[in-house]
Amino acid sequence: MVSKFLKKMEVLQGFICIPTKSRPELIGNTPLPCVTTLNGNPARLDKYGRLWSPFLKGKFPIGYQVHLVKSEQGFQIEPITSKLESAVLRIESRSETGLFGAREKMLGEERKVLFRNLANLPSTTYATFGLYRYPAKFIPHVIAYVLENYAQSCMKVFDPFAGCGTVGVVSRIYGYDYELWDLNPLLETLHSVATLEPKKVDVKKLLHQLATSNEEFVPKWSRLYYWFPQEFLPLLYRVWGFYHSMDDEYLKLLLTIPLVKTTRYFSYDDMQRQKLSKSPKSEQRVNLLLTCDWKTKFFKMVEQETEKVIKRIEDHWMLSPKQTEAIVKGGVDTLSMNLTEEKDILITSPPYLQSHEYIRQAKMDLFWLGHSEDEVRKLSKLEIPYRDVEPQPVHSETFSSWRGEIEENHMRKLFDRYFWGVLGALTRLQEKVSPYLFLFVGRASMRGRPVPIDRIFAEHFVELGWVHEGTLIDTIVARRMFSYRINPATKLKDRRTPVENLVILRKP
Ligand SMILES: C[S@@+](CC[C@H](N)C(=O)[O-])C[C@H]1O[C@@H](n2cnc3c(N)ncnc32)[C@H](O)[C@@H]1O
Repeated sequence: MVSKFLKKMEVLQGFICIPTKSRPELIGNTPLPCVTTLNGNPARLDKYGRLWSPFLKGKFPIGYQVHLVKSEQGFQIEPITSKLESAVLRIESRSETGLFGAREKMLGEERKVLFRNLANLPSTTYATFGLYRYPAKFIPHVIAYVLENYAQSCMKVFDPFAGCGTVGVVSRIYGYDYELWDLNPLLETLHSVATLEPKKVDVKKLLHQLATSNEEFVPKWSRLYYWFPQEFLPLLYRVWGFYHSMDDEYLKLLLTIPLVKTTRYFSYDDMQRQKLSKSPKSEQRVNLLLTCDWKTKFFKMVEQETEKVIKRIEDHWMLSPKQTEAIVKGGVDTLSMNLTEEKDILITSPPYLQSHEYIRQAKMDLFWLGHSEDEVRKLSKLEIPYRDVEPQPVHSETFSSWRGEIEENHMRKLFDRYFWGVLGALTRLQEKVSPYLFLFVGRASMRGRPVPIDRIFAEHFVELGWVHEGTLIDTIVARRMFSYRINPATKLKDRRTPVENLVILRKP
């Protein structure tokens, strides 16, 4: 570790000169020049032992004392001058260099938080928040924090990438009207189940009807035999036949998640993985099922899951949800939708680069719920970042510098598609939103380096006239967001950091 005071040229030009005596420790035998990272941002070491990064340009005032540390991930720089001294130095350096104008001054502070401790909800999977394992879903505490601290009565909340609809469920608890959109048609069903009122239900009778029904439903899916052993299919056709013939909408919704979950358990899908995929472990599970009384086990599981859903609905009711106005649109493309009314708060968690494939992950459930192969294929082709997008302006230096360093065409294409898609849609939608935008994203990695998506978002919206109030950095505790140690696609050690960032923007 090295500590040093930053000189004028270093601050102005965005580099840090590693003192000669510290080079063995920080550079060692690494051939120079070379590419590296600084606090997760692109950086390079030149042949003179100077560490360059756009991230450093104007980041700290002249005379500021910093620690520079070398880790497995690259370099880390940390300020060690006290806050008071830094404020003084900042003012001095601004007048001396005229540099801390423009963008740096306008980006707010980053602060570490634990959202779990900031909002008053029992747990992240409490009540109907834990009904379904939707990939990368919001922890409800983030939305609760936003609504408790920023919302005022009669405000309207909007989430254009709503996933399973967590924003809607929390908005209802806090008494706000909301609108939700998502490409995934599951949104409508999951949101409807999560907001059901508790009712007395005769579960035994329902299960008896399910087990004795003669209705049949065969999903329109050519890969059915790949995903299920033949033995299970007649039973699955019948239980889903019963489901699709049900007139009682309440009971139908109640049965949806138990049937979806149990059906998956009886499939070859490895449910521990982020994507629909077979594994030796999942094949073993199915083979074991085939050796036991699997019919009884199937109905037992559905019964237990139904009891759990009923309990979760009762718990949800204890949180006193209000009768608010809700617009919920699943199966829609946010890139081509327009808002028909003004909103006060846009809070959303868009996809994190290529971390997930939402439609691929959901398709087994979608087929059993009655969606056709053609429909699912069309939806997959609209998913960000796997679709073509017209180029859109991205007002961010960080975006440009990252883009400039991507060598592989296909990676640059994915990078472009992601930012053009998400920022293109949000730029259009923000015109009808005032005063708040809240964007929640993780730093998904590309070629093993975490991309500062939140910073790119903040810079872009500041350029559009929004004020960046700050970014809250939350440590992911329970989620399996970034679980890979070796990225299977790149075979590189994955440096995805287990944090997610809430970018807070206000229209002045
Ligand atoms: C991080 S998830 C949102 C999770 C959500 N916050 C929750 O609590 O469940 C991102 C979502 O973006 C959606 N998405 C991807 N491409 C889309 C598109 N073109 N239009 C609408 N939604 C899209 C995915 O289906 C996914 O649900």
